[in-house]
Amino acid sequence: MPSFSSRVLALFLALELAAGAPPPTATVPAPPRDRRDIISSATSAAGSLTSEAGGALTSAFPSAVASVYSSLASSIPTEAAGGIIPGFDVPSVDDVKNEAGLSDDEIEQLPVRILNIPGFANLTDNGWSVLFHGQAYREPLENSSKLDTLTNVFLPEKDVDQLNETQQDQARNLTSAIYSLPVSDLSLTFTLYNATKDAQDSPILNLTFPLPTDSRGEFNQFVHMNDSIPTDLGERVHRVEVRTNAGDLGNSSAFLVPSQGITFLADIDDVLRVTRIYSPTSGLNNSFANPFTPWSTMPAVYTHWLESIPSAHFHYLTTTPEPATRMYESFIFGNYPLGSFDTRPYNFTTLDQTFRVRSVALRRALETFPQRRFVLIGDTSNADIMRDYPQLAKDYGNVQCILLRNTTATDSGDHFPYDTSGFEGLDNSTYFFFDVPEDLMGLDIENGECVNSSVPQNIEYGYQNLPWDPETDGAEGLKRSVTWRVVLVTGLLAVALAL
Ligand SMILES: *[C@@H]1O[C@H](CO)[C@@H](O)[C@H](O)[C@H]1NC(C)=O
Ligand SMILES: *[C@@H]1O[C@H](CO)[C@@H](O)[C@H](O)[C@H]1NC(C)=O
Ligand SMILES: *[C@@H]1O[C@H](CO)[C@@H](O)[C@H](O)[C@H]1NC(C)=O
Ligand SMILES: *[C@@H]1O[C@H](CO)[C@@H](O)[C@H](O)[C@H]1NC(C)=O
Ligand SMILES: *[C@@H]1O[C@H](CO)[C@@H](O)[C@H](O)[C@H]1NC(C)=O
Ligand SMILES: *[C@@H]1O[C@H](CO)[C@@H](O)[C@H](O)[C@H]1NC(C)=O
Ligand SMILES: *[C@@H]1O[C@H](CO)[C@@H](O)[C@H](O)[C@H]1NC(C)=O
Ligand SMILES: *[C@@H]1O[C@H](CO)[C@@H](O)[C@H](O)[C@H]1NC(C)=O
Ligand SMILES: *[C@@H]1O[C@H](CO)[C@@H](O)[C@H](O)[C@H]1NC(C)=O
Ligand SMILES: *[C@@H]1O[C@H](CO)[C@@H](O)[C@H](O)[C@H]1NC(C)=O
Ligand SMILES: *[C@@H]1O[C@H](CO)[C@@H](O)[C@H](O)[C@H]1NC(C)=O
Ligand SMILES: *[C@@H]1O[C@H](CO)[C@@H](O)[C@H](O)[C@H]1NC(C)=O
Repeated sequence: MPSFSSRVLALFLALELAAGAPPPTATVPAPPRDRRDIISSATSAAGSLTSEAGGALTSAFPSAVASVYSSLASSIPTEAAGGIIPGFDVPSVDDVKNEAGLSDDEIEQLPVRILNIPGFANLTDNGWSVLFHGQAYREPLENSSKLDTLTNVFLPEKDVDQLNETQQDQARNLTSAIYSLPVSDLSLTFTLYNATKDAQDSPILNLTFPLPTDSRGEFNQFVHMNDSIPTDLGERVHRVEVRTNAGDLGNSSAFLVPSQGITFLADIDDVLRVTRIYSPTSGLNNSFANPFTPWSTMPAVYTHWLESIPSAHFHYLTTTPEPATRMYESFIFGNYPLGSFDTRPYNFTTLDQTFRVRSVALRRALETFPQRRFVLIGDTSNADIMRDYPQLAKDYGNVQCILLRNTTATDSGDHFPYDTSGFEGLDNSTYFFFDVPEDLMGLDIENGECVNSSVPQNIEYGYQNLPWDPETDGAEGLKRSVTWRVVLVTGLLAVALAL
């Protein structure tokens, strides 16, 4: 029996939804139980797509492309094309309960945790409007003897007990978070504190969140602060501490972002940290076992921007699933400037939210700060970045620069084709493909400079890094005829998902 990728099943659900079927209650099915299944689901998803959903997808292609597509027998890391590590998805509530083997009453006794994702705030006629978003959950498998078995599924090579202690902690911590249960209908109260040492004990205000957590334990809404926080705070971004008394681990921050200035909005995987999503086993390894590591000297570039641009606001927007948020936050806050965050919520009720997570979150940021100038940062190996960044630059007037790491320039292991056609028609002084972080150092971002003319730009407005591209792969590519098909479909499917 072929192993189904959870993304493929999610796709089925999405197509059903698009066809008007009622929303499913369970969101995404559990990942396969066996490590080999994960790795193979990462490479056989296209094979599974020969059914109904595949038909719906291929009918959206021009017929020539569709015939290439349907003639392929196997195999692509669909999730990776969408910027998600294969197999790294969230199991259903029922599945988590089964694994935990606890009764509902026993689950009720477990501590409630609040993932309070750092939000941004804009200035309105009713004072600061602060975005609160996150999730209330329990981690029933945290201390369970079953945790190691579940953890092993995500580790490409070794079992968890063969790893060193720091690796074990990381792998178990992330797996336990993935196997969490939402806490719905919880009423939340937040207390905001001035983020200065001497103000620790003097809260600025208490507020009750207007809605209880939804069926997935999530909350996601702006709240007006009215006159409780001064509005005239100058050109700099101010941080306030946000704590909640409804659960544990809820300490967080909110960022008061003035109407004018520069916002650096970045993806994380493969531009701020080394992930290698395009190589599924490395991607798993670098997420579950290896300590998160900054990519090259990107932290120095960020420090430079922080120190030289007084109005700078940093926003981190990744489509990694919500349970990994704490791991990403602790990595970013240890290596890059503090800032607000978006990750991929569970709220899968519309086609848009499922397949356009990045553009939904990007639009919200761009619409919240219409007068700020945005610098969007990412890399060429994410199909959704290649699609959404240029599209939103065309749709909104406040995108100043798009800075993309050309991943293939420094990692010959990246065989993903990338599509630059979205950039056609955009002013070529607003986007820049860079090879190494130093290429960004000299840019005068404040005065609108986005391109370092010493780095050759080779934009073909179409698929690049194709396997027969003599520049990238040479004759060697042709020998890997199976691999190149794999790679081509990766790109095509990414397009399919975009439709
Ligand atoms: C796991 O153990 C830790 C430390 O004893 C405790 O704080 C935590 O609440 C436990 N978690 C669960 C789910 O039982
Ligand atoms: C907020 O609530 C705490 C108790 O939970 C209280 O000590 C504090 O005075 C309140 N602050 C404001 C500004 O209302
Ligand atoms: C989840 O999505 C539904 C439908 O779009 C929306 O009504 C609901 O408010 C969302 N929940 C959260 C927490 O955003
Ligand atoms: C600000 O005013 C609005 C409208 O009256 C109210 O809903 C909201 O709770 C107030 N915000 C705070 C922080 O009290
Ligand atoms: C925070 O504290 C600083 C000085 O400690 C003060 O100037 C500022 O007004 C306070 N901010 C708020 C929002 O209370
Ligand atoms: C969270 O805030 C509380 C005060 O509400 C503080 O006592 C605690 O040390 C903080 N926890 C962390 C992990 O910073
Ligand atoms: C996983 O990471 C370790 C370093 O911790 C490395 O030795 C190993 O080669 C990596 N394996 C893969 C498949 O990337
Ligand atoms: C564990 O292995 C990682 C490599 O994945 C290494 O960076 C770390 O220092 C090691 N930790 C210990 C305690 O040996
Ligand atoms: C898991 O790791 C994250 C980030 O490193 C940390 O914030 C969190 O407290 C850890 N969770 C537990 C239950 O230890
Ligand atoms: C503040 O952000 C909200 C939410 O995105 C948006 O609707 C509103 O227009 C923004 N206000 C201003 C003054 O830009
Ligand atoms: C940008 O486009 C102009 C022509 O419109 C061309 O002369 C110039 O070389 C292009 N710049 C880059 C960096 O490709
Ligand atoms: C990215 O780098 C590769 C390898 O150096 C090069 O062949 C390709 O043209 C570059 N892409 C762009 C868009 O400049």
